[in-house]
Amino acid sequence: MYNDIRPRRLRASAAVRNLAAETAVDGRRLIMPHFVTETGPEREPIATMPGIDRVSVNELVRDVEADLKLGIFYVLLFGIPAAKDESASGAYADDGVVQRAVRAVKKRMPEVCVVTDVCLCEYMSHGHCGIVKDGRVLNDPTLELLARTAVSHAGSGADIVAPSDMMDGRVAAIRDALDGSGFIDTPILSYAAKYASAFYGPFRDAAGSAPQFGDRRSYQMDCRNAIEAEKEVMLDIDEGADIVMVKPALAYLDIIRRVREIVNVPVCAYNVSGEYSMVKAAAKLGYADERMLVTEILTGIFRAGADMVISYHTREIFREGWL
Ligand code: PBG
Repeated sequence: MYNDIRPRRLRASAAVRNLAAETAVDGRRLIMPHFVTETGPEREPIATMPGIDRVSVNELVRDVEADLKLGIFYVLLFGIPAAKDESASGAYADDGVVQRAVRAVKKRMPEVCVVTDVCLCEYMSHGHCGIVKDGRVLNDPTLELLARTAVSHAGSGADIVAPSDMMDGRVAAIRDALDGSGFIDTPILSYAAKYASAFYGPFRDAAGSAPQFGDRRSYQMDCRNAIEAEKEVMLDIDEGADIVMVKPALAYLDIIRRVREIVNVPVCAYNVSGEYSMVKAAAKLGYADERMLVTEILTGIFRAGADMVISYHTREIFREGWL
């Protein structure tokens, strides 16, 4: 045997493995998503996402407070409005559900960093991320509504706004509007390379945001494309994105790596609802060990190059001390 090189030496004990490990899942870079409802029960489990509830603003504050005690400082908020219409008016209403949620969280816990998802689909009667006319999703007229939504979130105290709609030019429109309203210091975390994906299935059930006709393929990216992801992130950075996101994460680890290598801003990855629910289902059936699945998946996402990860597993990771 060639006896000079024995890689197994560095694997012989947990202590040596830990010392030699190249990647660590950094709990301080995990972001916990929340679904906040304007009406309905104070707390309601989401059938397709075991362990995640839809909550009222009051219950949200309780959850964020309990999570903060565990050490979770970052939250991403999604709103589920009482009513939807053709102009997504709930998205940019002063007393909209996200606006109220942000104010409530920031008032009680200013140290929590609140990221808001800026999108219209939850607020549109047809469930698309933009204004629809003659069965088409219109790009430019949608920008104004997105910009209004972002400004309204920032005005409510959001620390970071995160546009997830995939309209062309939205980052520039949002940056202009934020600056024009005095929010020059509010960063934009852009869902830059967001793919049309079956992995969003549970989210659409959770948020009631499934498109009522067609699909999102005319605005979200095609999963066959990687070079195009470079184009999307570079465009968003040129338009003023401070952080760029790749989404989903698991089937797109190559995209995370590729983006990490070409940009000089932080890269966020979204470990989406379907990725969470698959793990939950496998664990429930006893097909695999949940803790090991979760830590391996998150390690893979960080190893691929993510600087931060949005994951529905965050609370459990902290509560169970999995890291
Ligand atoms: C809104 C939005 C979606 C997700 C985040 N923001 C759904 C979609 O694009 O259909 C998905 C998040 C997840 O699946 O966890 N546009």
